[in-house]
Amino acid sequence: MEEPFWYGLALIIFTLLLKLSTTKLGQKHKKNLPPSPPSLPMIGHLHLVKQPIHRTLQALAEKFGKVLLLRWGSRRVLLVSSPSVAEELFTKHDIIFASRPRLLVGKHFAYDFTTVTLAPYGDLWRNLRRVMTLEVFSSARLAQFSSIRQGEVRLLLNQTVKSCAKSMTKVELKSKFTELSFNVMTMMAVGKRYYGENVLDAEEAKNIQKVIRDGVDISGATNFGDFFPFLQWMDMTGIEKKMVSLMAKMDNFLQGLVDERREILSATCGSNRKEVKKLMIDNLLALQEKEPQFYTDQIIKGIIMVMLVAGTDTSSATLEWAMALLLNHPEAMEKVRAEIDTKVGQERLLEEQDLPKLTYLQNVINETLRLYPPTPLLVPHEASEDCVVRGFDVPRHTMLFINAWAIHRDPELWEDPTKFKPERFEGWSGEGSEGYKLIAFGAGRRGCPGAGLASRLVRLALGSLVQSFEWERIGEENVDMSEGLGLTMPRAKPLEAMCKPRPLMLA
Ligand code: HEM
Repeated sequence: MEEPFWYGLALIIFTLLLKLSTTKLGQKHKKNLPPSPPSLPMIGHLHLVKQPIHRTLQALAEKFGKVLLLRWGSRRVLLVSSPSVAEELFTKHDIIFASRPRLLVGKHFAYDFTTVTLAPYGDLWRNLRRVMTLEVFSSARLAQFSSIRQGEVRLLLNQTVKSCAKSMTKVELKSKFTELSFNVMTMMAVGKRYYGENVLDAEEAKNIQKVIRDGVDISGATNFGDFFPFLQWMDMTGIEKKMVSLMAKMDNFLQGLVDERREILSATCGSNRKEVKKLMIDNLLALQEKEPQFYTDQIIKGIIMVMLVAGTDTSSATLEWAMALLLNHPEAMEKVRAEIDTKVGQERLLEEQDLPKLTYLQNVINETLRLYPPTPLLVPHEASEDCVVRGFDVPRHTMLFINAWAIHRDPELWEDPTKFKPERFEGWSGEGSEGYKLIAFGAGRRGCPGAGLASRLVRLALGSLVQSFEWERIGEENVDMSEGLGLTMPRAKPLEAMCKPRPLMLA
């Protein structure tokens, strides 16, 4: 009696297992997923994600291919290191990949996914992007804010001339560049300068920049809850607690700005009020009066925060890398200076309207962004539906990383890819498919809206410094070009250089 029972049970189990395995195989056949390196149970490929991440992911692509599917815990990650695949994603599949993954950073550092940078694709994002374009990025606004950029660059030149004597003197540049970018953003947003002479709030600005930097570092750290949802409630590493505490400081600062400006505006009546209505925050507060449901304080604070977080360190890091590259390549520094001396002269300071004439300066910035893109992995996107990329099936909710660092240094795309050769951009239009080889600002709907602003600021500042001072390295040794850790790419060592004013600055 017992024997047939066990045989029967074994037969049922065998049939079930067979069915299960054929269904699985069937799924495998149905799905043509992108190639994937060997992985570990549970964690998938998370053990391969080591700092600096852009370099480890570049090595993975070299070994296993330019389109890879990784698994980070429970999340699928599509890693792309090819410009033609990036082009396919940002054209044919742009809408599908126009969303952002819901990571903890968006909850705590983006007012619960309500800032333009981390909001999911949809009406809220569209409205925020439209408002920011009107207020900050449109050609009219860029032209209107030109005097702010020029004023802040003049301040930088004046401060530098004060810190260097007539003979070569050592100056520290990193903090000067950060202060310049921060001042430009806060002047545009709220009409306040935080660094310079007679400024009361420099300490506050330093604190808030530390908050931003710590925030960016934390965003780059692996948060296990993002990859293992069952661990989310635990906050094993205390990362969520840190995020909440940093954001409380940030919010306090931003609310202070909004309240202060609201008070100034309400104290300024009638016709006087029209005169002060030039700042971005004033326009936003006016919109709040008309549409209080949409333009809440939270939305306004989010817009200001995005300018500070997305605009400051990216622009100042690019300036720092560009200057470091010129110090290591004095012949290129000389070429920039010769171009400015020929096209602008030594009688007056460089102005923004001179920039279109300065093609070599533009090539130097392109080459800097190629070698040291400030956000080497761009910002992650997420597929909102299943799609086929390069013939591979990519399931919905897959996170997308484009490795700009790997594309920019691919020997199949660039001759001597690690060499600094601004000349390679002579006659380069960056149009069509060619544009995806230099992808430091991303592309498509979620591409960087601040590219025009950043490019003007960085060229104006670098050009003015080269026009107004002689520059040299501190010693015989080349400037150390190692990159620091994190999702953005700061220099490992703050840049210092020797400088001496040129006659223009002494006049
Ligand atoms: C050299 C300077 C800069 C670089 C290299 C840079 C690069 C980038 C990159 C790679 C992205 C992500 C693109 C993607 O998702 O595919 C981005 C997004 C963004 N950037 Fe920039 N950026 C710079 C300066 C700025 C400035 C000055 C601002 C504003 C003041 C700004 C505002 C933004 C915003 C708002 C987004 C989010 C766009 C969205 O999700 O719709 N950026 N930037």
